[in-house]
Amino acid sequence: MTRAALSNQDYESFRTFLESACGIVLGENKHYLVVSRLSRLMADEGVETLADLVAHLKDDRKRQLRERIVEAMTTNETFWFRDTFPFDILKETIFPDLADRRVRSPRIWSSACSSGQEPYSISMTIQEYQASRPGSLTDVQIMATDISPTILLDAKEASYDALALARGLSNERKQKFFTPLRDGRWQARPEIRNRVRFSQANLLQSYSLLGRFDVIFCRNVLIYFSSESKSDILARMARVLNPGGYLFLGSSESITQYSDEFEMVRCPRGSVYRVKSGLVLKPTAPIPRPIVRPAGNGKR
Ligand SMILES: C[S@@+](CC[C@H](N)C(=O)[O-])C[C@H]1O[C@@H](n2cnc3c(N)ncnc32)[C@H](O)[C@@H]1O
Repeated sequence: MTRAALSNQDYESFRTFLESACGIVLGENKHYLVVSRLSRLMADEGVETLADLVAHLKDDRKRQLRERIVEAMTTNETFWFRDTFPFDILKETIFPDLADRRVRSPRIWSSACSSGQEPYSISMTIQEYQASRPGSLTDVQIMATDISPTILLDAKEASYDALALARGLSNERKQKFFTPLRDGRWQARPEIRNRVRFSQANLLQSYSLLGRFDVIFCRNVLIYFSSESKSDILARMARVLNPGGYLFLGSSESITQYSDEFEMVRCPRGSVYRVKSGLVLKPTAPIPRPIVRPAGNGKR
């Protein structure tokens, strides 16, 4: 498929399909992106025009094709301990808070987990916290979900090449939490893998089967969605958070305009949101008391 073969009308139909399938809103002039990401898939399927592809998608039996298109259009960019501060906040503020409140079996949700770097970074952080406070938070569970079945297979395997390992993982952590395989690949050790459970989930659909959580990571995915989808997802996340539960967004993402159900907790190294009507956060010394201010402007 070439740019010339992609009419504006076909592009519009495809945009509508993509947003309803996974929430991603394509800009008006991203024809080149569609061409570059779908050309191979269309050749494999023997489909010549985007109009034909969109027509195929209306067929209920084409579930796998729809999945492949969504996978081709999503961005899986991720790396270890992304932005650093969320993992510092977990260790310095949230884990002590959960331990002090004696929360039994705390649950953390990595809601767009890509190839696993985010949930395994959380798991390593738990491991480090436990080493510094033996006997505490012994039973933390991490639920890691993504829309892409293919990326979830990679995530479950937990084996990474040198390039992926070099992105954010210190040599010390690699030696401590990974085992060397062949060809320069290393695999996360069982104690890091075992507390993570993977499952396919679309953020646009119900969360009721996932249970409740004490912390949610929803990072670097809402940026691709419409304001309506962001508001809807944040409202539903607020409902699956336990009282006093926390929400991390990506460093360029904000809740302002999309939800008034969270307040911002400013910690020394960055910010996290907490569902309103939660318990008072007790920071541990020497971390100063976080400044809590309402997030959002009430627009829903
Ligand atoms: C840019 S990655 C972010 C990974 C990780 N959270 C991070 O910050 O490093 C975005 C991920 O969101 C997933 N995704 C996109 N749309 C989704 C949806 N509707 N439901 C669940 N996951 C989705 C993609 O498959 C991709 O793995």
